Amino acid sequence: MSNTAADPGLAVIVLAAGQGTRMKSALPKVLHRIGGRPLVGHVLDTAHRLAPASILVVVRHERDLVAEAVLAAAPDALVVDQDEVPGTGRAVEIALAQLDAFDGDILVLSGDVPLLDGDALSALVAEHRDSGAAVTVMSANVDDATGYGRIIRGSAGDLERIVEQKDATEDEASVSEINVGVYVFRAGALREHLAIVGTANAQGEKYLTDVVGLLYQAHLPMAVSTAPDAAAALGVNDRAQLAEAARILNARTVRRWQLEGATILDPATTWIDVDAKLAPDVTILPNTHILGATVIETGAIVGPDTSLVDCEIGEGATVRRADATLAVIGAGASVGPFAYLRPGTVLAVDGKIGTFVETKNSTIGEGSKVPHLSYVGDTTIGRGVNLGAGAITANYDDLAKHRTEIGDEVHSGSHNVFVAPVRIGDGAKTGAGAVIRKDVPAGALALSVAPQRNIEGWVEKNRPGTGAADVAARARSAQKADDGS
Ligand code: UD1
Ligand code: CA
Repeated sequence: MSNTAADPGLAVIVLAAGQGTRMKSALPKVLHRIGGRPLVGHVLDTAHRLAPASILVVVRHERDLVAEAVLAAAPDALVVDQDEVPGTGRAVEIALAQLDAFDGDILVLSGDVPLLDGDALSALVAEHRDSGAAVTVMSANVDDATGYGRIIRGSAGDLERIVEQKDATEDEASVSEINVGVYVFRAGALREHLAIVGTANAQGEKYLTDVVGLLYQAHLPMAVSTAPDAAAALGVNDRAQLAEAARILNARTVRRWQLEGATILDPATTWIDVDAKLAPDVTILPNTHILGATVIETGAIVGPDTSLVDCEIGEGATVRRADATLAVIGAGASVGPFAYLRPGTVLAVDGKIGTFVETKNSTIGEGSKVPHLSYVGDTTIGRGVNLGAGAITANYDDLAKHRTEIGDEVHSGSHNVFVAPVRIGDGAKTGAGAVIRKDVPAGALALSVAPQRNIEGWVEKNRPGTGAADVAARARSAQKADDGS
């Protein structure tokens, strides 16, 4: 990517080799997701915004899984393997070895610090260059510093070193200014001092943070830049911090769409993934999850209690109390309440998928309605169709899936079963309770239920003395009197 780099003097190293023990997870920490993206994906997205000469990502734990996610998020990144020497210092050292001729600035980012934005990092790099420091450390003042490295300043307020929680004295641990885990180094100074960092500490690791103390001892200029937004400096080490990071990111995303013109009634219960898009004048009601690459067009009303994954919701459509994945909803269409739309559902303009309806891999044409209690799978429905309550497409015969094809302007009776493969011609009708096993020609009425038989006097004969028998007897004699008059 060097030919497109806007900043050829900058290289970014992203640390993603750790296991993330405190997550207690089979999944590597940096692959846990917030806003629909892995933690490391957020960090890479931010790194890209700086357009550096190169982005290197250090991996080790579950390296194939992590490398795959890294290359999906940043195809131009260089994946570097850490060896068995543990620690953030070793991770950076291994990456630096890939950059031997590089003499610019090195921005180090942690794969588990996902909320910093491009502006904050650009400002850090600019500050570093203006001051001419050998390192500029990003710090934050936090209420609870537990787990973080502490910034130790001398009596003149200058940065002297960083001490890890596990190595800190009680006095040091009481410092509330923490190391965010993001730094800019001059490449030469970093290379020279990393080489002499040891592992004599509580965790037996080669700490990147020890470089700071060594630079101080070498009397090289150092700077600290305090993050204006401490929340953005949050490091994710356990599930509680993961949830906190997700909440902060979501609050930002919700606010961004509000400022773009979306009405979002309840930010606390509305979850929007970073890749989703909302047009102006969309309304989102409480308890709604807008996930993946979902796009919602202007005037649509979504929610309450709705979950959309990778869906397209057309202009002015209404989606209430629905769960939908990979569904396309046309302009002016209506979905729910209580609808389940599975992948491949396409509802055309002004169509309706109503209450207690499940759909899958089906196209429902313009203005067509499936209003109540139905399953529509592997089906093509034309325009102007109304499926009566309780319509079921029996698409599976134990061996394979088959399609049901319903033409334009078809009206089906209540409680029909369409046994696929089957075709219903344009304008055809079906009777209530019909089981449609054979194609119905255009314009025909299909009936499959045996004619109704009424057995006169059955209740009086078989249930004598009951209330039903009494009222039936009265009604029948009144009827006789009527007939006689
Ligand atoms: C680190 C910092 C700490 C800082 C905190 C901020 C060190 C020694 N400590 O601590 O001062 O306050 O981040 O969030 O740097 N990693 C590797 N290789 C390794 C070990 C870790 O690539 O051998 C990666 C991890 O995957 C992670 C990042 O480096 O993305 C930080 O590692 P972690 O173990 O979480 O460090 P902290 O204890 O949080
Ligand atoms: Ca961490």
